[in-house]
Amino acid sequence: MKKILSLLLLAVISLNVFADEGMWIPMLLGRNEADMQKAGMRISAKDIYDINNACLKDAIILFNQGCTGEYVSSEGLFLTNHHCGYSYITSHSTVEHDYLTNGFWAMNRNDELPCPGLTATRLVRMEDVTSQVMEGISTETSEGERAAIIENNIKKITSRAVEGTHYKAIIKPFYYGNQYFMYVNEVFTDVRLVGAPPSNIGKFGGDTDNWMWPRHTGDFSMFRVYADNDNKPANYSKNNRPYRPLKHLEISLAGVNEGDFTFVFGYPGTTQRYVTSDAVDLAANVENPIRIDLRTIRLKHYNNAMNQSPAQRLKYASKVASIANGWKKWQGESQGIARLKGVEKKREYEQRYQQWANDKPQYYNILPQLHEAYAKLKPIEVELTYFSEAVRASDFMARAQSYRFLANEDDDMTIVAEVNKLKEANSKYFADFDLHSPVDKAIFTETFLYMWKAGFAPYLADESTPSNLVEEKLNKIYNTSILNNEKKLQKFLDSYTAKKAKQLKNDPALQLFDQAYTLAYDAQKLANYRRAYSDIQRLMRSYVKGMMEMEPEVNFFPDANLTLRVAYGHVEGFRPRDGVYYKPYSSLQGIMEKENPDIYDYVVEPRLKELYALKDYGPYGISEVINDTTITTNGNDTLISVKTHTKHQMPVGFIATNHTTGGNSGSPVLNADGRLIGLNFDRCWEGTMSDLLFDPDYCRNICLDIRYCLFIIDKFAGAKHLVDEMTIVDK
Ligand code: ARG
Ligand code: GLU
Repeated sequence: MKKILSLLLLAVISLNVFADEGMWIPMLLGRNEADMQKAGMRISAKDIYDINNACLKDAIILFNQGCTGEYVSSEGLFLTNHHCGYSYITSHSTVEHDYLTNGFWAMNRNDELPCPGLTATRLVRMEDVTSQVMEGISTETSEGERAAIIENNIKKITSRAVEGTHYKAIIKPFYYGNQYFMYVNEVFTDVRLVGAPPSNIGKFGGDTDNWMWPRHTGDFSMFRVYADNDNKPANYSKNNRPYRPLKHLEISLAGVNEGDFTFVFGYPGTTQRYVTSDAVDLAANVENPIRIDLRTIRLKHYNNAMNQSPAQRLKYASKVASIANGWKKWQGESQGIARLKGVEKKREYEQRYQQWANDKPQYYNILPQLHEAYAKLKPIEVELTYFSEAVRASDFMARAQSYRFLANEDDDMTIVAEVNKLKEANSKYFADFDLHSPVDKAIFTETFLYMWKAGFAPYLADESTPSNLVEEKLNKIYNTSILNNEKKLQKFLDSYTAKKAKQLKNDPALQLFDQAYTLAYDAQKLANYRRAYSDIQRLMRSYVKGMMEMEPEVNFFPDANLTLRVAYGHVEGFRPRDGVYYKPYSSLQGIMEKENPDIYDYVVEPRLKELYALKDYGPYGISEVINDTTITTNGNDTLISVKTHTKHQMPVGFIATNHTTGGNSGSPVLNADGRLIGLNFDRCWEGTMSDLLFDPDYCRNICLDIRYCLFIIDKFAGAKHLVDEMTIVDK
């Protein structure tokens, strides 16, 4: 059993046999091996990470800087989520060739589409470099000096590590800088799109179902890595060849049963497991509500527009997906923290810590100081939240910021470059201005008005002003700014020189942006903010060190930091609320239940319906023998008849207790034998507080069943040649 942070929490959170919390370091997995095997794993820690032999680690990819992928063929073919490949699928889509809507399948290697800018990174090896990073640091070293020494050491260590190779090395802090690990990576840059299902499979349920269970999203896409003749990373070239990975995953068709051991191997981005009650309170009860309200406004306007035309749907799809994603997650997170009494639990832990620390000079003052630092941070953090979620909500203000940059520039060369950039952006921006402008204007006025009412835009008008006057003022700013007048703006830019800066600065858009910016980014405030922030980092380093000393028997996992981790648990349903139990699987039947041709997110592809009607699931479906018993009475006779029939099901998704977070998208979900059974793509909404606090009763990761993925590729899309490349076993 894994131990979680405090014994107190152990007592309070009802805990089943496997606590399942934790994102573990592959290199140190030996520490978890016994626990994992007890939980059902049949392979060894060395099968997962081994510096001397090809191992599962070699099949894992960091997809750009925010998702995970895994090789499933010896020719560089890898899987990730649809939502991870989204922007590449979109960028190859036009209204005529709309791959986003209709799907894309390369029927041969020549059809595979290059994706400039996309990287696939493989971890070559990792190493604990704490002592080298800390060289030259003593208890007397000041915080500033410490940072400089560390930076310098890191430069030396990383350049030494990759000398004479094509590898890249990075060093990251763990446990707030109590430990450092180096990662030596191989970064591939010729990555091509191979396949993606149509949106209404890959994004089935859309933002309505996002973060929710039961789920029916076929959230996968496929790419291929290409390398040079020596199998080394190379920029795109026609002559490149499919990369031959050291290891690709075997795929199991055996499926999952409740209670089965599973593990997720990927790149979780950020968690804040060890922060104090003040930090949890700030996130869950102060920042989240502000962000949620302001995004509700933006989403309302974008969604209205998207329902009006296919062109508008395509235009806003990606933007809305990302705005809605945080919007919904934060709601789940805040509710989860409230349900779990997260702030109170943290306070109880802090009391216990304080008692332990009272006679320890290096620790007794840590928590009070952290409390003070958060008190300083909080008001500024709130203002910055308003700035990013309200001031920067509209394109209008985002553009004002770019023009402000131009107005502050006096170097002629830079001015020419900037003007050209702005002109190019304008030609795109004004192409559909008539459609976009009402949307952007509404977002602009409504978000500013919200901020003003909350007391964070005093420059607009004083509190006693009727809000309709403030709204009029905002409308006027929008209508009179040169930024919204294509012809005038074009002319102005054509003859722009530094001499015109003053005129530009007087534009109402720039004036407004400037007022907002000056208030939020006031130099003094910012200095205070930075000080509080760096104090918090320094204090957290001691706080966490103290935690480990207080409970030496606990195996503390380090917070996620976009490094490769293993999370393990088992397939399990849960009770989201009274009277409801969620089973851990979903199937194609659920897609048919959700079908609604009038709602975009629930349109079902005709071909999928056909396969469902024929129960044509190939080797990917499951058959269940069902005995239906009928009892009839006829006068005094009772007739019992048993009819046997077989129910064919196509599994679609499942949930498990693996501790995951953003960045784990696309991560392989593996079974006890290390074979691929699914793709991680989400978490259940009721458990999204797991970035701050993990509750085994509620925290579930959501996985795409690999059998549905193969079914779509093979039976739906007729791209069997891709399945043929894979190694598929029944076990
Ligand atoms: N919630 C998932 C994640 O955090 C999926 C997000 C993309 N899907 C969407 N409907 N916006 O990344
Ligand atoms: N969809 C998330 C991602 O892109 C995973 C969900 C989560 O936050 O756990 O990584």
